[in-house]
Amino acid sequence: TKVSLTGIKPTGEPHLGNLIGAIRPALTLAEEYDSIYFIADYHALTTERDPAAFRHYTRSVAATWVTAGLDPNRTVFYRQSDVPEIFELTWAMSCVTGKGLMNRAHAYKAARDRNIDAGEDPDFGINMGLFNYPVLMAVDILIMEADVVPVGRDQAQHVEYAADIAGSFNHLYGDSYRFKIPEAVIPEEDSAHTVPGIDGRKMSKSYDNTIPLFLPENKLKKLVRRIPTDSTPVEEPKDPNSSTVFQILEHFATPDVIADTRKRLEAGGVGWGELKNQLFEVLNAEIAPLRERYNELMEPGSDLDTYLAEGAEKARERAGKVLRSVRKAVGIS
Ligand code: TYM
Repeated sequence: TKVSLTGIKPTGEPHLGNLIGAIRPALTLAEEYDSIYFIADYHALTTERDPAAFRHYTRSVAATWVTAGLDPNRTVFYRQSDVPEIFELTWAMSCVTGKGLMNRAHAYKAARDRNIDAGEDPDFGINMGLFNYPVLMAVDILIMEADVVPVGRDQAQHVEYAADIAGSFNHLYGDSYRFKIPEAVIPEEDSAHTVPGIDGRKMSKSYDNTIPLFLPENKLKKLVRRIPTDSTPVEEPKDPNSSTVFQILEHFATPDVIADTRKRLEAGGVGWGELKNQLFEVLNAEIAPLRERYNELMEPGSDLDTYLAEGAEKARERAGKVLRSVRKAVGIS
């Protein structure tokens, strides 16, 4: 069987975009493939400076995976930081990775461009973790011998880099050990999987526009009310496609409800307030039955700790095999 692998970085509360763009597609793949899903906590350390918040987000991402349906008996499920083999291999792979390749990485280049535009030193505020980020991510993938990596479009370059870095290693040491070349699985029609945030841009922790998944009911209601709408009067026809509220609704309502809502908006007579109530009801119906399980898992000493400990053991066993082959291949044993 082929292996599906993906990770989520704990830089904030998991949100609706993560669920639609990554968690659900990954769980669907898990029905067919061997699956390896993890929490990329050391990746978050490139930006996260608040230890208590970091700890909370890490647990929250883990609890979200399980609440959303990950079965720890079926999927290898762990925290990246519990698998030291990953970090040892990261050094070895850094030594076969060209610096020029890293110079061209989107996230690093974007950070430099922002500095240049602001008239700062190009490397202002850029740490080596951000620069090395793609090597660590390549190793996440390669050390588990993954075939497919379900991710959103923003992560495509990282998966291509993993394939490139594997190729460099194979070119040098392929007689002794060859890495599997991974492939990204990206939702075909991006708009169908990119959930907009409350400001209409792509929902993202870095835009601070997310709808976190397991908000208490009253907070969820407040957040939905804050989504901006235009000033079209209640009785006038409205364009569903230019409404953020409608676009979010499209990801969660049934096709019949979506079609009916579209018709009613276009006919006029439905106000934005009413549409927001509908969105809240649809989201809450989805989330309410899961809140309790999520809150249970968030408690210290819950099943989550057992799942992660068992998962780390399985992950280390798998990673250890690959690491031993690499050590041998390069001449360290
Ligand atoms: P991260 O934590 O930023 O995002 C996790 C996943 O969610 C997807 N995503 C979205 N999809 C649709 N609509 C949105 N609004 C939206 N926002 C986020 C992302 O594309 C991603 O798939 N570098 C990775 C974590 C990582 C990883 C890995 C992934 C570390 N090692 C190895 C795969 C394999 C990241 O920062 O994802």
